[in-house]
Amino acid sequence: QQAVIGVTGLGVMGRNLARNFARHGYAVAVHNRTEAKTKALMEEFGHEGEFLPAGSAEAFVASLARPRKMVIMVQAGPATDAVIEEFAPLLEPGDILVDGGNAHYLDTRRRETALRDRGIHFVGAGISGGEQGALEGPSIMPGGTREAYESLGPILEDIAAKVDGVPCCAYVGPDGAGHFVKMVHNGIEYADMQLIAESYDLLRTGANLTPPQIAEVFRTWNTGRLDSYLIDITAEVLSHTDHATGEPFVDVVVDQAEQKGTGRWTVQTALDLGVPVTGIAEAVFARSISGHADMRAVARGLSGPSGAELGSSFADDVEQALYASKVVAYAQGFNQIQAGSAEYGWDIDLGAMATIWRGGCIIRARFLDRIRAAYETDARAATLLSDANFAAEVGAAQDSWRDVVVAATRAGIPVPGFASALSYYDALRAERLPAALVQGQRDFFGAHTYRRVDREGVYHTQWELPDRPEIRTDA
Ligand code: 6PG
Repeated sequence: QQAVIGVTGLGVMGRNLARNFARHGYAVAVHNRTEAKTKALMEEFGHEGEFLPAGSAEAFVASLARPRKMVIMVQAGPATDAVIEEFAPLLEPGDILVDGGNAHYLDTRRRETALRDRGIHFVGAGISGGEQGALEGPSIMPGGTREAYESLGPILEDIAAKVDGVPCCAYVGPDGAGHFVKMVHNGIEYADMQLIAESYDLLRTGANLTPPQIAEVFRTWNTGRLDSYLIDITAEVLSHTDHATGEPFVDVVVDQAEQKGTGRWTVQTALDLGVPVTGIAEAVFARSISGHADMRAVARGLSGPSGAELGSSFADDVEQALYASKVVAYAQGFNQIQAGSAEYGWDIDLGAMATIWRGGCIIRARFLDRIRAAYETDARAATLLSDANFAAEVGAAQDSWRDVVVAATRAGIPVPGFASALSYYDALRAERLPAALVQGQRDFFGAHTYRRVDREGVYHTQWELPDRPEIRTDA
């Protein structure tokens, strides 16, 4: 008896992924560095399917049918390198080694190159959906060679979430493409969570609703165009009462948001690629601000308003602002995928990415089907905001959007996500940007030159001379 696929690293994600394979009828080899976890898996879930437990790396590899397919589910970083070091010498040319962790895409590129030299297909696969997704159907974003996907893809598609019968798994592109897309997924996740959190704050501090009342508002929103996993779980969290104190759960949690790094990577990468992902950046910075207890402690007494008495229709305005800001955040994230794809020659199908995010992953939402449709209309759209449907919706939402940002500003409620999304929208719409003045300043102090609107060429004004003559520098 040989296994169709194997999983090493039986933490919650690895264990649930292995169970998912088994539940779909695949004989699955399971291995963990410390054997206790393998035994625990067999005891608790061994009856769910055909598991082949292995006590050593050698036994694990020997139990896999050729070409071998094995998934590494350990912590990103050095732990992943250590596991690759351990297993690669046991594999043969043509075997497929999958990294299902949240690896940095540059690590994946490095590992893919090194393993390709040894004839091994290294597949960096983004897997989203948390514990439940891994077990019941995640969204899977596999990179690597097409050849590897031919034999691995059908198995991954089988265990992935399905929406309208379509699997939430598709080939992304060579080497680091899968982990790049997963990284941007997480960046968008940060932005989406921040926008939802700002909506909550506006309803709480601006309209004086209670957490359970706000949960109801979110539940209503979840029946419309904002229908998504994140809105759904937000309602759950807001309606929960703390067992110990009887207070709303959200009031007993320390208001400092943590992060494991994928949002930060997204922004760092976007800066290098020159992609303005303002929504994701604001979300990362908002978490950072929340964590600066020292600064917040000394600044708490600074003067300014702290709340308002906004009327009941305010919630509708917030819904519009949230939707418009969300469109902006997703548009920015998809631009980053477009830029990464161009930079590394990955040829990523943006519509396919929207398709596999419709289910299984943390940002799963009804809305993603509209993004899929937008890219179906124009696969190379410069921005999703110019898609006729999104343009009409955001256009219709903008009065409320502006009102909400104004009301928040007057009330002293921080809305970095809403405000920066609106500024991004206005910057893209603008006939002229003050960037022209910035160019003038740069030329003044550093002779950094500028281009003119009326003729070709690169120019410099000799600011130090009395009549400030202009010279062409590229002639
Ligand atoms: C997913 C999630 C997951 C990650 C969370 C937490 O797609 O299933 O993105 O990969 O654990 O995003 O990330 P932070 O700790 O950085 O908030």
